[in-house]
Amino acid sequence: DKGNHRHFMEKEIHEQPEVISHTLANYLDFSTSRVGAFETPFDFAKIDRLAISACGTAYLAGLIGKYWFERYARLPVDIDIASEFRYREMPLSKESAALFISQSGETADTLASLRYCRSEGLPISAIVNVRESTIARESDGIFPTLAGPEIGVASTKAFTCQLSVLAALALKAAKARGRITFEEEVDLVRQLSEAPRYASQVLKLSERIESVARELSHVRHVLYLGRDTNYPLAMEGALKLKEISYIHAEGYAAGELKHGPIALIDEQMPVIVIAPHDHIFEKTVSNMQEVAARGGRIILITDEKGARKATIKTLDTIVMPDVPEFLSPIVYALPIQLLAYHTAVFMGTDVDQPRNLAKSVTVE
Ligand code: M6R
Repeated sequence: DKGNHRHFMEKEIHEQPEVISHTLANYLDFSTSRVGAFETPFDFAKIDRLAISACGTAYLAGLIGKYWFERYARLPVDIDIASEFRYREMPLSKESAALFISQSGETADTLASLRYCRSEGLPISAIVNVRESTIARESDGIFPTLAGPEIGVASTKAFTCQLSVLAALALKAAKARGRITFEEEVDLVRQLSEAPRYASQVLKLSERIESVARELSHVRHVLYLGRDTNYPLAMEGALKLKEISYIHAEGYAAGELKHGPIALIDEQMPVIVIAPHDHIFEKTVSNMQEVAARGGRIILITDEKGARKATIKTLDTIVMPDVPEFLSPIVYALPIQLLAYHTAVFMGTDVDQPRNLAKSVTVE
């Protein structure tokens, strides 16, 4: 049932404040602002590496998780696309643990990666949305996302719930490894518990984003740029746009621009820059300047401070609420989902069932 919505994807985008909140409640103790007492199938203090493997959007969630685990818990993360991981004969240390991420819990390559790690004797954990799935059953412990059934082929609410679990796990790891103080824990948990409220605020920007999407629906190619956790988000934005609107899109680390993709920039090329005013903002602005100097049409997604400081002529600026840096990927996922959604609607594609795609990829 789509309720008042035109598509399941739109409904699922709008469910995010609620499902993020449900998911976080499973891992955080809101009353004390502390990490919850949930069980893990391995001790974060006793491992020296975490191997993450997943496909598509779930892989991009894992990539954001890598930044968090490394930054907050000082835990090195190896992350792979499952179809590569399963065949690349990676040496795994006995002090490693494995984490798989899958909405459906049935993705063939992710399952094969899990079985490889099992044969190597690693403890196995999985972030899954379907608790009865094969990946869930074959794991030593699962971290469920409480997103509810996701019908749209384009993953939206599962992604932000995966991010919510990863953020909570990074804090759990940081605590176990003695990398955050009591005060820092309380502060970060408080920040994270605000994610649903920020998500609701962003949903109010839907009409504004729709007007940007009208422009996008006339182009053939789009480039997405971002740094740090906004780099995986740039790739997620590109993935979302290409799968439902069939517009060719690429996501790049902004710093890679001059190593190739800058050759694509001309007066026709829209460049979507995801740049909240964070520790790396100035660096992204200088990449934007390079785009502007070549006539590229910049669509900037930032906050008020970022909009004030980036004195570059943009085609459009989407002004987001001021979000603490830790949880910004969860909140900034929404405008890129809405942008892809509205663009696809303008183009008249089959948003929930895009051509050539299956919701669950059970063959390799
Ligand atoms: O069920 P899974 O999370 O394992 O699925 C992984 C990918 O197939 C999935 O995220 C795919 O990339 C989506 N269509 C992206 O929107």
